Amino acid sequence: MNILLTGGAGYIGSHTFISLIDAGHKPIVVDTFDNSSPQVLDRLHALTGQKPVFYQADVRNSDMIADILMRESCDAVIHFAGRKSVGEGQSDPVLYFDQNVGGTVQLLHAMNKSGCKKLIFSSSAVVYGNPEYLPIDEEHPLSTCNVYGDTKRTVEDMLRALSASDPEWSVVLLRYFNPVGAHKSGDIGEYPRGIPNNLMPYVTQVAVGQLEQLSVFGGDYDTPDGTGVRDFIHVCDLADGHVSAMKLLDDTGCTAMNLGTGKGYSVLDIIQTFETVNKVRIPYEITDRRPGDVAACYANPSYARTLTGWQARLELADMCRDAWNWQQKNPMGFD
Ligand code: NAD
Ligand code: WQD
Repeated sequence: MNILLTGGAGYIGSHTFISLIDAGHKPIVVDTFDNSSPQVLDRLHALTGQKPVFYQADVRNSDMIADILMRESCDAVIHFAGRKSVGEGQSDPVLYFDQNVGGTVQLLHAMNKSGCKKLIFSSSAVVYGNPEYLPIDEEHPLSTCNVYGDTKRTVEDMLRALSASDPEWSVVLLRYFNPVGAHKSGDIGEYPRGIPNNLMPYVTQVAVGQLEQLSVFGGDYDTPDGTGVRDFIHVCDLADGHVSAMKLLDDTGCTAMNLGTGKGYSVLDIIQTFETVNKVRIPYEITDRRPGDVAACYANPSYARTLTGWQARLELADMCRDAWNWQQKNPMGFD
């Protein structure tokens, strides 16, 4: 299939590019490089032997996206493009609604115009809010407590309504848990701009000496060791989940699916595994809880397995090893 990847130069999009090529598909990348680098395209070329078909375009430019969809005879779209920082969403909600909700509205106009009505959307476990029970399955009530989550939930609502209104649409909502790690080559990965908000990039920057020590946000949660528990999933497993989810595009309707491992690991588990696997020290201190954090969040991933056969294969040790390999090979990211 010819698949348009909006935000395809980003962290998850670039790994999915490789999984799609491996599965015999033709990805077409659209990105603004707002949060990525043109160098990603050279790295993808070197890794896959195929020069990415690329358009520098904003998903909010509906006419341009419609032209690309028609010119490239796209069969489906995987929509990664958007903003993903909880803190930035709180301080600039208009930007977040414009990029995440407005961007998707314009993309849907373009898809309607071109007649391409198959969409996989990058949603997030953030749509479950503070978990009412664990592990979280797709029946868990949706409830959001920050602007970023509101934008993901609004887009999910819009896509459910769209597929109910027009039976030609086929939509898959992929709810990612906590993607970490990097391609085993160490040539693509995640390099957040500024001080990282997320745990794994912070850990790797402490390990490489760019940051002094890790603050562990809270040691008094109701979890086995008192620190936060999350469902960390290797980005390559997550990328493969998109290829598996494409099977669902043969049928119409709207399906939501968790992409997680089903295992919860604590912040201290991450530190210990990272230190053991990579033989480096991660100095840390336990500090106050981070406002808005939940104690524990992990998936029941069985629906994805039942529907598509997909399940995560890689372990926490793989995630820590590959995150460190990427960080060491690219101490300044793509710059
Ligand atoms: P990323 O920032 O690395 O990738 C997003 C890409 O989209 C970037 O390359 C950016 O330049 C591009 N982009 C942004 N706005 C654009 C626009 N208007 N038009 C075209 N391109 C644009 O983020 P990621 O980690 O790869 O996340 C991809 C998607 O998955 C996002 O929608 C994010 O909300 C969602 N998600 C991410 C995580 C995570 O922890 N990384 C978890 C759950 C969901
Ligand atoms: C994990 C654990 C922290 C940093 C966020 C978004 C979510 C999603 C992924 C997109 C928590 C602790 C962290 C640090 C720490 N993205 N921590 N010290 O909060 O589960 O999810 O990113 O959809 O929407 O909310 O991930 O990596 O920030 O935190 O102790 O310096 O690590 O308190 O327990 P989170 P995270």
